[in-house]
Amino acid sequence: MSRGRLNGQVAWISGATKGIGEGTAKLFAEEGAAVAVIGRSEADGARVVKALTDKGAQAIFVRCDVTREEEVRASIEKTVERFGGLQILVNNAGIVDVKMLHEYTAEEWNHVMNVNVASIFYAFKHAFEHLRKNERSYVVNVGSISTFVAQACTPVYTTSKGAVLQLSRSIAVDYARYGIRCNCVCPGITDTPMLRQHLNATPAPDGHLAERLRRVPMNAILTPEDVGKSILYFSCEDSAGVTGTSLVVDAGYMAVAEWDAEAVAARD
Ligand SMILES: NC(=O)c1ccc[n+]([C@@H]2O[C@H](COP(=O)([O-])OP(=O)(O)OC[C@H]3O[C@@H](n4cnc5c(N)ncnc54)[C@H](O)[C@@H]3O)[C@@H](O)[C@H]2O)c1
Repeated sequence: MSRGRLNGQVAWISGATKGIGEGTAKLFAEEGAAVAVIGRSEADGARVVKALTDKGAQAIFVRCDVTREEEVRASIEKTVERFGGLQILVNNAGIVDVKMLHEYTAEEWNHVMNVNVASIFYAFKHAFEHLRKNERSYVVNVGSISTFVAQACTPVYTTSKGAVLQLSRSIAVDYARYGIRCNCVCPGITDTPMLRQHLNATPAPDGHLAERLRRVPMNAILTPEDVGKSILYFSCEDSAGVTGTSLVVDAGYMAVAEWDAEAVAARD
């Protein structure tokens, strides 16, 4: 099954039991990587690992809450123990909590910041001693269009995703001399459980999605694999020489100030 761009590489991917992380794990396995599927759900983890190993890939599930430094450290050690090294660290796990700023408790604010930002600190801190052993290593952090623009009622998510890019730049700068490149992939509207949960909280989910897509020039919802392809790009030498930057994968969302798909179609 291998296309080979990641042959001999070991990847640790957080939040790989669902959505973008799962799509990325599949792509990485197809490219020959051994994959550590990092997440909290044993059942989802087992399902993803089975899908990968059924196709001949090497994969393990490691249960880990990325807000707990000790669990993150242990998950990295287990990955290295099982596969003999670590070349690729993908910090994908993330959550959103939708409300106005004055409505958050301090605990709710801190939780989103811990999942989306502190987790990257923990993972890098404990992966560094392994990443530095390789001639080349790769860190990819998942931001969002919210890295660059605000969306309604997501103040902590927007703050955290801005921080993901700044942290990516900082890692890129400080660790370039160890052969480590670090970049940030920033997805737009992507069809994952996170998006569906968000939509299902609205009175008319399909109508809400259609309304959001009117704002997207390609008028398309991204698949987890669409985003995974950009994560893959930053995780191999296809992106040689690229570090400390971001790649927006958003079907054109950020390129326009205003867009109404139906009005544009009516011009034809
Ligand atoms: N779906 C979108 O439209 C979209 C858009 C922009 C950015 N993103 C970002 O992409 C990344 C993946 O999102 P997704 O849409 O696939 O979400 P998802 O909810 O479908 O999957 C997220 C994964 O992260 C895991 N996770 C959450 N908290 C965790 C914790 N404390 N410890 C370990 N794992 C944890 C979840 O269990 C899940 O496996 C996130 O960082 C998200 O912010 C998603």
